[in-house]
Amino acid sequence: MSLKEEMIQGIVDACRSVIERDDDDRSKLESVCSILKDRVQHYDWVGFYIVEGDDQLVLGPYVGDPTDHTRIGFGEGICGQAADTGKLFLIQDVSKETNYLSCSPSVRSEIVLPIFRGDELVGELDIDSHLLHPFTDLDTRMLEMICELTAPLL
Ligand code: SME
Repeated sequence: MSLKEEMIQGIVDACRSVIERDDDDRSKLESVCSILKDRVQHYDWVGFYIVEGDDQLVLGPYVGDPTDHTRIGFGEGICGQAADTGKLFLIQDVSKETNYLSCSPSVRSEIVLPIFRGDELVGELDIDSHLLHPFTDLDTRMLEMICELTAPLL
């Protein structure tokens, strides 16, 4: 089932409420990952990468299978390209990508959103799906709201 308009507010409100909790930032980010993965059927891996130095992404809180890609250089894979360009990458079929880092053969599609604090790129929200072509404009719109909410925590 794809994301429905009427689901978005509830998901964003649930994320906002964990972010406003008295807890450490990593736990809050992990809870946001869990909410997204639990409530959206086609989200199979949800995680944050955090910018380190001028050209590295380091894996932050996530839910889903462990990944070998705990450190990614800018320009490498989908995450690295999103960091390099500061642009959202929506890949509906990863088999068509040449610059792609595979976490698991089950992953068929991926969306990566850069997260900015002001003009500064501070991290990314990365979501993998086991489905082909699962993402719509609703995913993008909701995930952009989640990036805005989580930017202060990165
Ligand atoms: N597929 C990503 C690597 C990160 S994993 O999806 C967790 C990429 O190509 O950058």
